Formats: sequence, C-alpha cells, structure tokens
Amino acid sequence: MTATKIRPRERDAIIHSLRSGVVPRTGQHHIQVGRAEEVRAVVCDLDRIADGGSGTRFLIGEYGSGKTFFLNLLRTIAMEKRFVTIHADLSPDRRLHATRGQARSLYAELMRNMATRGKPDGGALATVVERFVTQALTDARTHNVAPEHVIRQRLSELSEMVGGYDFAEIVAAYWTGHDTGNEQLKTDAVRWLRGEYATKTDARASLGVRTIIDDANFYDQLKLFARFTTMAGFAGLFVCLDEMVNLYKLANTQARNANYEQILRIVNDSLQGNAAHLGFLLGGTPDFLLDTRRGLYSYQALQSRLAENTYATGGLVDYSGPVLRLDGLTPEDFYVLLTRLRHVYASGDSAAYLLPDDALYQFMQHCNNVIGDTYFRTPRTTVKEFLNLLAVLEQNPGSDWRSLIGTIAIAPEGNPDLAPLNDETDPAAASVHEAMTGAPVCAAHNTAAPGPVAGTADDELTTLRL
Ligand SMILES: Nc1ncnc2c1ncn2[C@@H]1O[C@H](COP(=O)(O)OP(=O)(O)O)[C@@H](O)[C@H]1O
Ligand SMILES: [Mg+2]
Repeated sequence: MTATKIRPRERDAIIHSLRSGVVPRTGQHHIQVGRAEEVRAVVCDLDRIADGGSGTRFLIGEYGSGKTFFLNLLRTIAMEKRFVTIHADLSPDRRLHATRGQARSLYAELMRNMATRGKPDGGALATVVERFVTQALTDARTHNVAPEHVIRQRLSELSEMVGGYDFAEIVAAYWTGHDTGNEQLKTDAVRWLRGEYATKTDARASLGVRTIIDDANFYDQLKLFARFTTMAGFAGLFVCLDEMVNLYKLANTQARNANYEQILRIVNDSLQGNAAHLGFLLGGTPDFLLDTRRGLYSYQALQSRLAENTYATGGLVDYSGPVLRLDGLTPEDFYVLLTRLRHVYASGDSAAYLLPDDALYQFMQHCNNVIGDTYFRTPRTTVKEFLNLLAVLEQNPGSDWRSLIGTIAIAPEGNPDLAPLNDETDPAAASVHEAMTGAPVCAAHNTAAPGPVAGTADDELTTLRL
C-alpha cells in the first residue's frame, strides 16, 4: 500500500464527501482504483490540447460506474497541468443548445465553476482575467513597450475569431478599469464574461458593446475563452460536462437534435483541429450514446463518428476512439478501494488502521449477502456505510468490528435514469430530477444491471497489486 501522507484538509474533504454520498472534488488520487488506461488516454489528450490541439471524449458508463469520479479526477489532473477547467451538470435548464436561455444558463454555471490550480474550488474567472493583465504588464516591461500596445496586439488575435471583436473589447475594458482604478468597469467586464448580462441594452450602457453571451453564441464564447486562457499563461480550457443523459431525455425531437447538432460541431471541431487549446470530457450513460431513437446514435452524423471500433470486442479494447467505456468496478477494485479508504481515514498512518484486512473481506461478504453484486458495481452506498463503520469504531475504542459488520443496513441504490422520462416543458421536471439525483439512497428502485459490455475483468485485475 502507498505510504503517501494525506493532508488533514484533504482527508476530511474526501471523507466528508463520500459519507454524504457525493464524489470528492479533490484528493481523488488517494482513493482511485483501476481506470489506468482511461486516465492515460485523457492525459494524452490534455498534452495535445496544451500544444494547441483539441479533443473530445465521451465517457460512457452505467449509473454508478464512476463517471463523475473520473471527471473530477481528470479535472484535478488538468488543473495540475495548468489548465483552466470548467464543469457543470446538464439538466432540463442547462443545455448546449436552446432558445429560452438554457444554453446561457449552462454557460453561466460553467463560468461560476471555473477553476485553476490556485483556485481549485471555483470562482476563478476574475483571477484568469487579472492574470492576462499582469502577464501583459510583465511582457511590456520586459520589451520596454507600452502595456496598452501589448494588450491591443494580443487582443487582435481574438478579434479574428467569431464573436472575438466584442470579447476583445470586454477584456480591453477590464484593462482600462485596471489602469484607471475603475473597479466598476472591471466588475462589469467580468460580469459580461460570466454571461450575467441579460440584455444588450445593459451591456451597451455599461461596457459599450452591442452583444451579450446568449444561447446562440455559447460555444463560440467557449472557443474564445480557450484561446484567451493561453494569453493569460494557462495551457488551455478543459470542459467537463456531466449528466449528458439529460439531452437524451428531452422529449422534443427538434430540441434534442439541435443539441446533438451542437455536439457534432464540437466533435467536428476537435477532429479537424478548429478549436485550439480546448478539450471536452462528456459523461453519460449508455442510453445517451447508443439509443437509436433518442441517443447520440439517433443522429446519423454522430453515429458514424462515434461508432465504436468493431474489432474491440471480447476483451479487446481501444482507447483511441472518442468513446471511453467505463465498466463497473470489479470486486478486486472494490477491495482495493476499501484499503484506500482505510488508509485515508487513518491519515496515511498504517499503525492507525481501525480494521484488519480480514474485516474488509467480511464487510464485502456482508454487502454481498444483503444487496448482491451491486455492492461493488455501484459502490456509492457501500462506500458510505464503510466509512460510517470506521467512524463508529473510531469513536468507540472498545467496540468490536465483528459484531458491528453484521448489523450494517445497506439499501441498494436507486438509478434515477430508470425513472420515467421528464417532459422538457414541465417546469417541475427539473426539481424532480434534482431531488432524485440528489438522493443517495432510494430503496424503491432496483439498481440497473450493467449492460453486456465486452472486456470487463482482465484489464481491471491489474489493479489488484497490493
Ligand atoms: N475509479 C474509482 N476509484 C475509487 N472510487 C470510485 C471510482 N469510480 C467510482 N468510485 C466511487 O464509486 C461511487 C460511484 O461513482 P460515481 O462517479 O458517482 O458514478 P456515476 O457518476 O457513473 O454514476 C462513488 O462513491 C465514487 O467515489
Ligand atoms: Mg455521476
């Protein structure tokens, strides 16, 4: 087992998240199991994107297979690699294409969640813009030219891109605010970039531009921002979108197809290298991809681009295509996961372990007896119960794990995707969805059986090197 020290803040964050049924935002590497090839594939993408390339990956796995965990892990790695990251869950109110503000709403959520290594918890937009200015000031000093000149020159690069003229004007306004001590101007510029201006009239009044970020220019703005991040000294922009299944759930065919068309643009741009320093990682369930009536496969042009390698069956895998399949964790993975959790709980000090190895097997046995193989395939509730067990042992030094394990109640997890499809026009749908995905345990439903996916065990067993 690793001898890595775990910082108290990280330890507490990991344990607190998992105990409340959510995937940790930081420190995922302390508990990560399996997925070595998938991680390597996306890390390769990141290097290419940092070099001025682009890339789009679809992360496809059943409910509970670890998509959100993987997204967070890769987002953390991207930050380490000096990327600016943005992330959001799609929902009925947040889409890639819309006509009633839902795309702008997705954009605004992404901007709120903007993170960098120095500001991993979000809200990094203003810092990125500020970095652009300080970078330009430094360069101006080095080359002994007026800062204004350096800034204008940089921004002229942006002006050539779609929507770039106004984007450049906004950054210039920020610079003016910086230069003249006009805090209001700086705030307004950042508000514009966040997509918070609702009307063109307002934007014109405070910033002198005729456009705002709206549904129609959502993606062009992301491309601009990606280019802009490099001018501020970052490697590029890494976009993580989760819960893509919400597009599949759109009842209106036209609305759904418009969203798929947007995805096609993104995929085409990354295949053709038309979006420099921009990467996408999109998490969704197999239905979202494969369903030929409502999924991405219902959209002919996407189906042909995303079709999986027909040779990659029967245990063979291919990590070079745009689709990355996440199979459910194996019992071996789950065992390793328990050892990691025990390790993290003890802050990396093996002398402080609250349980011996034998107890880990017994815990797995108990889970298996109560809920069957979902205990390792969709481990959210079992992970949570394991941590609860550790908490009891820690606070009751005399207690015996043998008698405790048998008493742990574990309910199988509910899969919100098995619920009836939401009608997109139903305003209540959003909150129902939130409520369902927010609920960690929902004993009424049964967990989705993992699909008959090829290539499960072998490649994952490699992780069982303790
Ligand atoms: N590779 C992994 N290593 C460690 N824990 C994982 C891994 N993948 C998933 N998990 C854990 O499994 C549970 C379910 O994962 P999650 O990402 O929420 O699934 P999904 O988003 O596909 O529904 C979470 O508790 C998560 O922490
Ligand atoms: Mg998820």
